[in-house]
Amino acid sequence: MLEAEGLCKSYGTKTVVDKVSFSVVQGECLGIIGPNGAGKTTLFNALDGTVSVNRGAVKLDGQDVSRLTQYERARLGLGRAYQVPRTFVGLSVFENVLAGVMHGPRLRGAAASAETRAILDTAGLLPKANMPAGALPLLDRKRLELAKAMSVGTKVILLDEIAGGLTEEEVHDIIEIVKVLKKDRAVIWIEHIAHALMAVATRIMVLNFGEKVADGDPAEVMASRLVQEIYLGISIDDAA
Ligand SMILES: Nc1ncnc2c1ncn2[C@@H]1O[C@H](COP(=O)(O)OP(=O)(O)O)[C@@H](O)[C@H]1O
Ligand SMILES: [Mg+2]
Repeated sequence: MLEAEGLCKSYGTKTVVDKVSFSVVQGECLGIIGPNGAGKTTLFNALDGTVSVNRGAVKLDGQDVSRLTQYERARLGLGRAYQVPRTFVGLSVFENVLAGVMHGPRLRGAAASAETRAILDTAGLLPKANMPAGALPLLDRKRLELAKAMSVGTKVILLDEIAGGLTEEEVHDIIEIVKVLKKDRAVIWIEHIAHALMAVATRIMVLNFGEKVADGDPAEVMASRLVQEIYLGISIDDAA
């Protein structure tokens, strides 16, 4: 569904994303972890076209989208949920998702309304469809961010730390939604909450100083000395 080939992004002399390659298939959830400043969000910006890369290519469902803008990639089925929800606060919950359904898969009329209802149902927001989006509490703002990502992202969804700031129970709700939406899409989820990724990720990739330093089975990656070292700051030599 999505393929990154040797993505590089620098700001001035600082390389923020360094030769990152990977691919994800339908039904898969690739978890991404890494310390603050590792380049995770910049990688998403490179994937969805928010920033132009210095080198590398992005393919969406086999098509090279490297030269397309963010909204063009969105129209081809690439959706994204932001860490800080980006909602049209003056519109209703329903209208927020409808806007995505009309822009992304370009549905109109009854088909657009039906798809919007189905997405709101998956996200657990159907009872609040007519509320002003600006009036939603945090968990529902996160649900709406997921619903908006679903409305556009018919093929691939990028999730940037959507579980941050939620209670354990609320994180569980988000995990259940991700399980449903990954069935017919590929999902990439940046998240610091390890157990959330362990519950749904089929693979975990680790970024450190812009480089991919691990990519594999979630349990193996999380238990690896490399991850312990990066997160706990213990060097392998010291530990030995
Ligand atoms: N527009 C920008 N201009 C300059 N530096 C940036 C810009 N965006 C991100 N950076 C830098 O790139 C690094 C990686 O940032 P980011 O991708 O946000 O990391 P993460 O999401 O892993 O915390 C940081 O050092 C950040 O300061
Ligand atoms: Mg980030």
